[in-house]
Amino acid sequence: MVDASPPSNLPVDWSLLPATASMGKRGELTIGGCSVETLTEQFGTPLFIYDEAHLRSRCREAVEAFGPDVAYASKAFLCTAMAKLAYEEGMRIDVSTAGELHVALAAGVPGDRLVLHGNNKSVEELTMALDAGVGRIIVDSEDEIDRLEALAAQRQVTIAVWIRITPGVHAHTHAFISTGQEDSKFGFSVNSGAAQRVVDRLSTSTALELVGIHAHLGSQVFDLENFAEAAKVVGRFFVPLGLAELCLGGGLGEAYVNGEQTQSLFAWAEATRNALREVGVSDEVSLSAEPGRSIVARAGLTAYTVGTIKELLGLHTYVSVDGGMSDNPRPVLYGSGYETMLARAPQAERPRTIRLVGKHCESGDVLVTQGSVPQDLSVGDVLITPVTGAYGYAMASNYNKVPRPAVVFVRDGLARLVVRREQLSDLLTLDVG
Ligand code: LLP
Repeated sequence: MVDASPPSNLPVDWSLLPATASMGKRGELTIGGCSVETLTEQFGTPLFIYDEAHLRSRCREAVEAFGPDVAYASKAFLCTAMAKLAYEEGMRIDVSTAGELHVALAAGVPGDRLVLHGNNKSVEELTMALDAGVGRIIVDSEDEIDRLEALAAQRQVTIAVWIRITPGVHAHTHAFISTGQEDSKFGFSVNSGAAQRVVDRLSTSTALELVGIHAHLGSQVFDLENFAEAAKVVGRFFVPLGLAELCLGGGLGEAYVNGEQTQSLFAWAEATRNALREVGVSDEVSLSAEPGRSIVARAGLTAYTVGTIKELLGLHTYVSVDGGMSDNPRPVLYGSGYETMLARAPQAERPRTIRLVGKHCESGDVLVTQGSVPQDLSVGDVLITPVTGAYGYAMASNYNKVPRPAVVFVRDGLARLVVRREQLSDLLTLDVG
């Protein structure tokens, strides 16, 4: 995870913007042929804008790199339009709760194109998955195996499962999103022998059929060596089992701020494949992955309206926008850095250093600790934080009863609203007392 970058005069790197980002006649930012300022007039702010062409090409790249078993990790961003899009482009969908499963099914994704994760799946969730014919269930605990065996017996079916294992490899990322290490709530450890014990247990189970192995190292991992190292540990465990399916999770890092470099999905797939070959995993094995962030992060950005500018002499200039930690908790949670830019002047120099804050009632509500903006930034400007497509809307909340933003997909000069803005009336829909 990367802390806020030092402020720079330079405009935001164009490579941080969605693929179809361009400049309109007045020098303003356009995405998918739509002016961002016009979109905010039409749909209001804060607004999540996704470049549909970008999303689709990332899905296609994932399928090309890993094959048709690759799954989109829907936790990064899910709504029916996104599930439908990923499915149309040939990806499976990874869901990890009843809620994600419900949305994917509502989008029309067939059960057999879904994989179900979770370290604490309830009987209700497992039942729902079995009713929907979910393609693969990834077992994560002995308790879950007990539950699944009971359900299989009731239904007189055999359930195909993968085991989630922890390779005991530390990913170079933020501790909160590192999952492949030994001390983790996820999976069964290879080193302690727990993974082998579960394999042995399943080998005698008539209810569950072990068809594959799964591992996920962590998220926002930049170093392909990390993935290769984990792949080797998983591969060595996998080979003697003689299974046909292997999934190495998600986690490919994305650039958020100027100067960060990312790897392509192809390079990631190749590094993984090479490492697996080295430890004897056959090319016949169905290798899959579960990218989330690398599919959606850069495809999306958030547009806010600047509401107040407070210059504190000798201290900071606080620029407040109409959203904040409720639509992007990542800076507060992980210290993640973002860039700031103006929709009307995407290539302007940014000599002014500001602190971008939201409208929530706490000082910690910071979106960008040290942002750079053009000198003439004013109240009423549309200010953009790029690369908010992953784990932004997905982790949005109603803190301070702030309604969640709208989400639009743009393509070929057309914008379609895919998630409407929450209204004040929505904030009362659950109150029954
Ligand atoms: N597969 C499994 C089993 C996972 O747990 C995850 C992410 C993924 C795939 C997708 O990983 P990705 O390709 O998106 O890195 N909220 C955090 C990220 C949490 C990731 C949780 N698991 C953030 O905003 O950085």
